[in-house]
Amino acid sequence: MSQPLTIEDLRVLAQRRVPRMFYDYADSGAWTEGTYRANESDFARIKLRQRVAVDMTNRSLASTMIGQPVSMPVALAPTGLTGMQHADGEILAARAAAKAGVPFTLSTMSICSLEDVANHTGSPFWFQLYVMKDRDFITRLIQRAKAAHCSALVLTLDLQILGQRHKDIRNGLSAPPKPTLVNILNLMTKPRWCLGMLDTPRRSFGNIVGHAKGVGDLSSLSSWTSEQFDPQLNWDDVKWIKDLWGGKLILKGILDPEDAELAVKSGADALIVSNHGGRQLDGALSSIAALPSILDAVGGRMEVLMDGGIRSGQDVLKAIALGAKGVFIGRAFLYGLGAMGEEGVTRTLDIIRKELDITMALCGKRDILDVDKSILVPGTY
Ligand SMILES: Cc1cc2nc3c(=O)[nH]c(=O)nc-3n(C[C@H](O)[C@H](O)[C@H](O)COP(=O)(O)O)c2cc1C
Repeated sequence: MSQPLTIEDLRVLAQRRVPRMFYDYADSGAWTEGTYRANESDFARIKLRQRVAVDMTNRSLASTMIGQPVSMPVALAPTGLTGMQHADGEILAARAAAKAGVPFTLSTMSICSLEDVANHTGSPFWFQLYVMKDRDFITRLIQRAKAAHCSALVLTLDLQILGQRHKDIRNGLSAPPKPTLVNILNLMTKPRWCLGMLDTPRRSFGNIVGHAKGVGDLSSLSSWTSEQFDPQLNWDDVKWIKDLWGGKLILKGILDPEDAELAVKSGADALIVSNHGGRQLDGALSSIAALPSILDAVGGRMEVLMDGGIRSGQDVLKAIALGAKGVFIGRAFLYGLGAMGEEGVTRTLDIIRKELDITMALCGKRDILDVDKSILVPGTY
């Protein structure tokens, strides 16, 4: 491929360069993958109104997310095992995001630790928290996020138990990985990835190994992670975490208006309409289809963000037009990272920025802050 011009180009490159078990881990959804696919295809149904002979000079994509300035309303979503798409992946992605003026969110299940990312990047980033049964570990993790100067906590609520992705089971993706012979042979066709991995000490869950009680190595990590997601997580825990953290709090994984009401009552600063990229409840609504009813339920009482299925600047514009204050991208940046490391994440953000800018202009708007439903064709959303 000459030069990647679309997120799809980056996906194809990533598929070539990333070992199959990790590529599949990113490019898959739960069970039939119906919700995963609907996240993308439901965007295509929404149509934009083309406007002409409108002054399109001096355009601006600048906005804010939870009150923090962003060069465009797009953040990098928390994704586990990002450092397996490319060596030191979280550090590289955080650097690319900082350069682009957009937020990076570090997952609890990252390869590079909170401290690693803080030490290797100049800008504050956001931290995503999974609530584990070991509450001492959670308390310490929140302290560590504060010490790393994270400027927001993203609390994920849609993973009390794990959805199933068939590909991960078939590929033997577990902690530690139990790759099949086919996967081991596949590794040999990815020399660039292997060299990167040999060159970095970061090959395990950096936030957990050496920090959680009884987890000193990969084999103890395996039993810890399979038991630790807390199926009893409830709104009292949200309050406990809010008080413990004391800073900006974003609730991730809201897909139902009744939960949106509870999210407002929790006093958090924002919620993310999300179905975890179609990786949890297969058969759930796509995020873009769920967005309008969540916005109605919230009625302006808190900021509403969304993620799921965003593969272009047109998708970003549609979500903003419907009323989201900003969006998160998951796979779109993982493909860039797997394809070309830090430069690939920069490429992802450049592609999305350019598409967003041109699309906004052709819809007759010069400022992202003025974008609303009037740019959408009635009856298509
Ligand atoms: C490979 C992968 C790993 C993920 N890991 C996490 C995670 O650790 N924490 C979390 O809250 N969400 C996680 N997510 C969900 C993303 O934060 C986000 O909701 C989703 O990727 C958005 O959909 P998109 O990939 O279509 O943009 C993950 C998603 C992917 C694709």
